[in-house]
Amino acid sequence: MADRSIWPRWLLLSIFGYLPGTISAQIPMGVTPGCDDGQTSLDVDWNGLSRDYWCTEGQWKTNASAPPVQSCDPSPNQRTHYCMNDKIAYTDVPPTYGDHRPVWPVYGEYKYAPPQRWIHSLEHGAVVMLYHPCANMVQVDKLRTLVRGCLRRHLITPYNKLPRSTPMALLTWGCKLLMNVVDERVAVEFIKTHADRGPEKLFEDGVFSYNLIKRAAMITDAGDSVICPSGTSGSNAALGQPSQFLPATSSASFPVTYRFLMSWTHVIALSVSLIVFSVVVSPFGQD
Ligand SMILES: *[C@@H]1O[C@H](CO)[C@@H](O)[C@H](O)[C@H]1NC(C)=O
Repeated sequence: MADRSIWPRWLLLSIFGYLPGTISAQIPMGVTPGCDDGQTSLDVDWNGLSRDYWCTEGQWKTNASAPPVQSCDPSPNQRTHYCMNDKIAYTDVPPTYGDHRPVWPVYGEYKYAPPQRWIHSLEHGAVVMLYHPCANMVQVDKLRTLVRGCLRRHLITPYNKLPRSTPMALLTWGCKLLMNVVDERVAVEFIKTHADRGPEKLFEDGVFSYNLIKRAAMITDAGDSVICPSGTSGSNAALGQPSQFLPATSSASFPVTYRFLMSWTHVIALSVSLIVFSVVVSPFGQD
C-alpha cells in the first residue's frame, strides 16, 4: 500500500522540478491563452492617446540639408517573449530589437501599432517604417509608396518619439535609417541590404491587427524573394545584394514545426520533474 503521506511530497517535488524548466523556457511565439492572444489587455502597450498618431502643432518643415543617419547595433540579441501582464520598456529611440509580445502583427499600415508588436515583425525580417505625426506628409507619402512597393513584409505606423531633425525612420532587426527627407536611392539600398535578415525566417501574418488600416499587398511572393523589384523611381537598377530567402512553400508548415519544437521545452521540463521524482521520492517509498 502506498504511503499516503508521500503524495504531497511527490506533488511538491514535481512542481519544483517542473517550474525551473518552464521559467527558463521561452514563452512560445503565437497565441497562448492567458498570456497573449493579440486582443486582450492591449492597453498595457498603448493607452490610446491620440497624440501618438495625430499632429497637434502643425506640420514640420523639411530640411533638405539634413543628411540621412544610418546605424546598426553590432549584437542585436535581446528577444524574450513576455505575456501581457508584464510591461516592456525600451531605452533606444526607436528600438530596433528587444523583448516583445509573443503575438506578432498582420503586415501593413496601422493607425498606430506599439513597438512591443512591431519588434516581433523585425525579428521575422520585416521592414518597419515610422513617421512622426507632424512629419511632412509629402515626404511620408513618398516613403510609404516606396516601402509598399519593396516587400510584403512591412509595417507602417506613426511614432511620436522621433525628433524634428529626423521625423521618419526605416527599421530592420538591429538597424535603422533616420531621415528628414526621402532619398529614394538610400532608402532602397537600406531595405535591400538589411530586410529579410532577422533572426527568424517567417513569412506569415500574425494575428494582431488592432488599428490596422491597410493590409500589405504581395509584391513578388510570400517570401519577398525579390526585394524592391522596381528599384528606385521605377528603374530596375540593381542596388545592393539580392536578398537571401527560403522557398515560399515553407511559409505554411514552418510555424507549425516551430511551435512543435517549442512545446518540447515543456516535455523536457516534465522529464526533469520525473527524474527528480524517481531519484528523490522512490527511496522513501521503499521504507
Ligand atoms: C538643417 O540641417 C542642417 C544639417 O543638419 C543643420 O545644420 C541646420 O541647422 C538645419 N536647419 C534647420 C532650420 O533646422
